[in-house]
Order: sequence, then C-alpha cells, then structure tokens
Amino acid sequence: RENDTQCDLMLFGALGDLAQRKLFPALYQLQRAGLLARNSRILALARKKLDTQSLRQQLRDKLSATIPGHELEEAVLAEFLAKIEYLPLDMEQPADYEAAARWRDENPVPLVVYMATPPSLYGTIAANLRTANCTGPSTRVVVEKPIGHDFASSQTINDQLAEVFDESQLFRIDHYLGKETVQNLIALRFANNLFATQWNQNQISHVEITVAESVGIEGRWGYFDKAGQLRDMVQNHLLQLLCLIAMDPPSDLSADSIRDEKVKVLKALRPIMPDMMETHLVRGQYTAGSSDGRSVPGYLDEEGADRSSHTETFVAIKAEISNWRWAGVPFYIRTGKRLPEKLSQIIIHFKPAPHYIFDPDQKHLANNKLIIRLQPDEGMSLQILTKDQGLEKGMRLREGPLELSFSEAFSTGRIPDAYERLLWEVMKGKQYLFVRRDEVEFAWRWVDQVIKAWEAHSGPPKRYAAGTWGPVASIAMITRDGRSWYEDA
Ligand code: BG6
Repeated sequence: RENDTQCDLMLFGALGDLAQRKLFPALYQLQRAGLLARNSRILALARKKLDTQSLRQQLRDKLSATIPGHELEEAVLAEFLAKIEYLPLDMEQPADYEAAARWRDENPVPLVVYMATPPSLYGTIAANLRTANCTGPSTRVVVEKPIGHDFASSQTINDQLAEVFDESQLFRIDHYLGKETVQNLIALRFANNLFATQWNQNQISHVEITVAESVGIEGRWGYFDKAGQLRDMVQNHLLQLLCLIAMDPPSDLSADSIRDEKVKVLKALRPIMPDMMETHLVRGQYTAGSSDGRSVPGYLDEEGADRSSHTETFVAIKAEISNWRWAGVPFYIRTGKRLPEKLSQIIIHFKPAPHYIFDPDQKHLANNKLIIRLQPDEGMSLQILTKDQGLEKGMRLREGPLELSFSEAFSTGRIPDAYERLLWEVMKGKQYLFVRRDEVEFAWRWVDQVIKAWEAHSGPPKRYAAGTWGPVASIAMITRDGRSWYEDA
C-alpha cells in the first residue's frame, strides 16, 4: 500500500480558499489515517512571497483552530507539516517553474499536480509544467470545476489540458462523487439484486433529488453572479447524482465502464425547450429573510451585489430521461441557497401495488419510498407499510422506516470528507470517481439548452424569502403532477 500511494504533490493555489478550507485538512486526515506514504512530499505554490516556515506555522494555526480537538494529534501534525515546502511562483512565468522542477529532482514516484486555481489558468500551468519537464506519463493532474461556463468554453479548457496530458492523466473533481453515500449508491444499486429488479419505469413513479443549502453567497458574489445555481450546482453535482441513480449497470467497476454508462444517461436527457418553461423549470432568487434564527439580507443586498442581477440562487427542474428504463419517470431536482437547512437527499418513489385493499383513507400512503440521505446523517431508509399495533386498529396501516444510519449501524466512527477520499484515489491513480471529458461536455450541452430556453423566455427569477423552500412555483411544478416534495408530504 505504501508503494502504491507514494507521490509528490504540487499544489497550485495553496493559499486560496479551497486549499486552506478543504485540501490541507483532508491531507492532514490522510496523514492521520496512515494513508500518506512516508516519503510523499507536498510543494505548496502561490504568488505570495512567503517561506516554508511561515506557511507551516500558518497551517498549524489554521488546522489547530478548525480540526476537532480529538482528531488533532501533535505528532501527526508535526509529521504532516514536515512534508510541506513552500515556493512562491507566478503561474504565468515559465521561469518560475524551474525551481519547482528542481524540487522534483527527478524523483521517480508519480507527481500529482493539483490546480486549485481559476480554470482560466489550467492551460497556462499545463504548458509551463511541460516546459519545465514535469509532465511525463506518471504525472496526474487534478482540476476543479467549473470546467467552463458553457459547452464551448469547456472545450477550450479541455483542449488546453489535452495538449499536454492524456485523458488517463486527468482527474476532474466533482466533490459530490467523494461523498460516502454517493459512493454507496453504486453499492446499493449493483450489489443488491432486490433493488436492481425494481429500478425502472415499471416500478418507480418518480425520483426527487434535493440539494439544499442554508448558506447564502458567503462573500463569493462576484464568482457566483456570473455562474448562478444552474451552472454552479446542477451542471455538475446534481447531474452526477442523477446519472448514478439512472445509469445502467456497468459491466465492472473500472473508470471507463462506469463513465460510459453515465454518459449514456446524459445523452438521453430530454432537452428543455422554451415551451416547457412553465411546467419544467423554476428559477428563483432569495430576498431578505432568516437563516438559523437570524435575519439575513437578500441576494441583491449582499456585499458587492449588482442590484439589477437576474442570476438565480435556486433552480427546480423536472428532468426526463428518454430511454426504455426511465420513460415516463420524472426526476424532480431542486437546489438552492438560503433554504431552511443544509440537506441533500434522493427519494425514489415506488409505484403503488396494482390493487389496493386497505382503508381508502390511507391510500395516499400506498407507495414505498427509498430515502438516500447524503448529508447530514448519511444513511438510507426504506419506507415500508406495516400493520398498526392494537386490537382496535384492525388492518390500519402505518408507514415506518427500515433504516440504516451509517454512523449508528457501523462503528466505523468518523466518515471521511469527500476530499480525503478523492485525494486518496488520485494518489492510487484510480479514476472512477472523477469526471471524464465527455461527461462534462454532455452535461454542458443539456445545461446550455436550458439557459437558451430561459433566455428566450426571459423575465427575472421568481423571488423567495431566505429561509423558505424556494419560490412557490417550484411547489406548483410538482403538485401539478399530483405529487409533493418529500418534506411537504
Ligand atoms: C460547490 C459550490 O461546488 O459546492 C458551492 O460551488 C456549494 O456553491 C458547494 O456551496 C456545496 O458543497 P457541499 O459539499 O457543502 O454540499
């Protein structure tokens, strides 16, 4: 195992938000779990003039302040920090890469390059690394979303990367794929024949995917306003979840088998056309309201806001997949900022039994639901109907869960953060939790079509007060089909 994961890691954008908030803590946890090979080294790169000692001290302070006390171990922290060196570098200056190449010093272990930078720099970094001779076949490159702003710009970025690296060297992160329960979808679907035989339009009436956040824009107005919730969340995270629910069984667990099946789903997504705006799409933008018990400003009153912005902070879409497995089964997806809670879950609604013999008043209960909770409280729960207890109850039904809470059922303790798992997979060189170029591109084609449709339709997004479940139109969208979002049931 040690040899499998030995590598040098070059982290571009080491002082940025992602590296500081997610990557260094994840690497610390890998060290703590004994998964960072003893000889692995980390080169932190950013423009600022700083020396290694100061960076180590900064990281020590930051990690000590953010990692829970019982997970903070001095010996582990010291060993981890000793692996890290800092090099100031202007990413656009080829000459600056020479020092990075010297640090590599022809070390034969694989090199992992993590570009925690704006995507506009990916091409430049790749080209400069090539000049510095750091792009051999054992180099792996990790890039973050957004890969572009639309299909055309994603092609430009992917082309720039492809000029230097082979697809087998590229690890495009969608951090939702690193979440414990998301991976469990693969186990649930393909290890349990019970579900495999039910997983189609004969047995499933509809699917809900909710990714709700209680936070607002968190000081990222400039970035977010150019993207919006559709590009920031649906193009990647929600479509990845949809693919994992909807894909056909892969023939094995290899990266390409899984990704081939996901791409087929993306290709089968029914385009959202302008005449479907009323029934298939809701865009929302939050106004002032409350979050976690305190008053919060509306999107247009956030710091740095342009008050005329029409960018959406909420999207609900009735997505449809045009293939034999899913014809007639809507996938209602919704995601938004400043919703009442942070909650990501998928609900599979099964069809009712063909003939109903119980109390007519209880007919609304008559379909089983499988609830897959991504966060918080990762777990799964199958809502089944049983007989209520007590002589006087007769054959009254009650709905209750067959429940599996991962943290309660398995004493595995802490569930690793998505970035820990993903970094660990990169170190092993396993690509199946990363997104292939064609996935990004087919997702953009569908999203571009949605944007085209709403631009043709125009009009500002619908308002919703912070702390509510989005515009009422998103409730109308599902009730029009005789259904409701799960919490509202
Ligand atoms: C990111 C988005 O990809 O995912 C953010 O850019 C969002 O806007 C975040 O807040 C949500 O991730 P998580 O893991 O907190 O659900």
